[in-house]
Order: sequence, then C-alpha cells, then structure tokens
Amino acid sequence: MAFAPWSRAIERVCEPELMEGAEQALAYAEADFSATDQAMVERIACCFGAQLGERIVDLGCGPGNITFRLADHHPSSLVVGVDGSGAMLAIALARLDQLRLRHLQQGERPRASVSFQQARLPCPQLQGGYSAVVSNSLLHHLHDPQVLWSTVRQMAAPGAAICIRDLRRPADQIALERLVATHAAGAPPVLQHDYRQSLRAAFTVEEVEAQLVEAGLSQLDVGAVEDRYLEIIGRHPI
Ligand SMILES: C[S@@+](CC[C@H](N)C(=O)[O-])C[C@H]1O[C@@H](n2cnc3c(N)ncnc32)[C@H](O)[C@@H]1O
Repeated sequence: MAFAPWSRAIERVCEPELMEGAEQALAYAEADFSATDQAMVERIACCFGAQLGERIVDLGCGPGNITFRLADHHPSSLVVGVDGSGAMLAIALARLDQLRLRHLQQGERPRASVSFQQARLPCPQLQGGYSAVVSNSLLHHLHDPQVLWSTVRQMAAPGAAICIRDLRRPADQIALERLVATHAAGAPPVLQHDYRQSLRAAFTVEEVEAQLVEAGLSQLDVGAVEDRYLEIIGRHPI
C-alpha cells in the first residue's frame, strides 16, 4: 500500500552549516527567542547549580543570545562564544560594545566576562579545559554530527557541565507543517524558510543516542523537550 507523501517519515536533509549571509544573520538576531533562551539558561542553573565554574564556552553562539544570558547568570565566569560566521560574530561584537558603553554610562565597571572567537568547527586549535560546554541550535547545522561531539570532548574539562539543546526532526511532513504553523506563523519569510530547513536537518532522539555511543559520551542523557526540542545533558567524565 502506498503512503501519502505527507505521512512518510522525513529523511534528514542537511542545510548550509554557517549562517554567513548578512541578511540571514540580521533576521536571526532580530527574532525573539527570549523565552526559549531564558528557559535554557534556567534549566542549566537548575541542573548544575549557580556555579558553572571559571570558564564557559557557547559553541555556535551566533549573535550571542545565550552567551550574554550565561554571562548575566554567572558573573564570576568567563564566557566565550565560538562561531564560524563572521556576520554573526559582527552582531555579537556590536552587542558587546553596546553593553560595555551602557555599563560605562551607568558608572559600572565594564565587564570583561564575555568574549567571542571566530572558528569553524572542527577546530583542533581551540583550547580545552572549560568547566561548562553549552550549545544551542548548532547540532542540526553540522553535516557530520560527530564534529560537535569531538569538540565537546576537546573542550570539556574533567567533570565539566554539558548542556546541548537543538531542534528535533518531526516524524512526518504533517507534523513539520504543524510546528511551522504553531511557532513561526508570524515570522518573516526568510525565518519561516530557515525554520522548515532546520527542522528537516535536525536529528531524532534515537539518532543522537547512537551518536553519543559512537563518540564515547553515552554518560550524557538525551531527551525530548516540548514538541520540538531535544536536550543532551550531563557531566564529562572525571
Ligand atoms: C541557529 S544558529 C544558533 C545561534 C545561537 N546558538 C543561538 O542560540 O541563538 C547556529 C549557529 O551555528 C553556527 N555554525 C554552524 N556550523 C558551524 C561550524 N561548523 N562551526 C562553527 N559555527 C557553526 C552558524 O554560523 C550559526 O551562527
């Protein structure tokens, strides 16, 4: 019996890794992800406590949405955002300048706790020893998911907190269109298009579990979150 095309399981279709276009980066930076970004930062605090250690890295940081929130939550940590896109990092650095200016105008000491580094992963030159490795919405961009897991192993100190969140690939085309209608109906066309592509490029919980076994990271827990995310959380072995 032939299945209707919209009820067939969706195969993964990769999207471009880096978000290099200036228009695409700006549209992303202007979109409001504040509720889900805040939820991630609170989830990290809830799982690992108020202290994340001295150095936190945010892989695939984009314009720094999560990076700045982590720095606010963990003022005694140094937070480093890493991304391969010059367009995204230009926005992140402009935000950092604005933040420093605001602190100066308010008579506060400028914060030195946030910095950004341009690097396309995999990047063996990146230093390790981070007490926390965080990443939001990078995994689905990577054509080879092992790039993220080998980078986690490269950068995490023994016992480091690890929290990765990403989209989860929907079961079929009907479920995909339902997610677009629920979460992106009012978004600009460029973001709606990106959202569809991202959902198609994302992984399932079972696929990520297999990736972690291959990477020797099976101590990390993988779970579905809400209708569209997956989360990978745990500690690096001591
Ligand atoms: C959807 S954005 C997420 C941005 C940010 N983490 C956030 O939560 O807002 C994905 C980011 O991953 C970056 N990226 C994709 N592949 C990469 C790679 N191989 N190395 C470094 N950055 C990469 C893209 O340039 C983009 O900025």
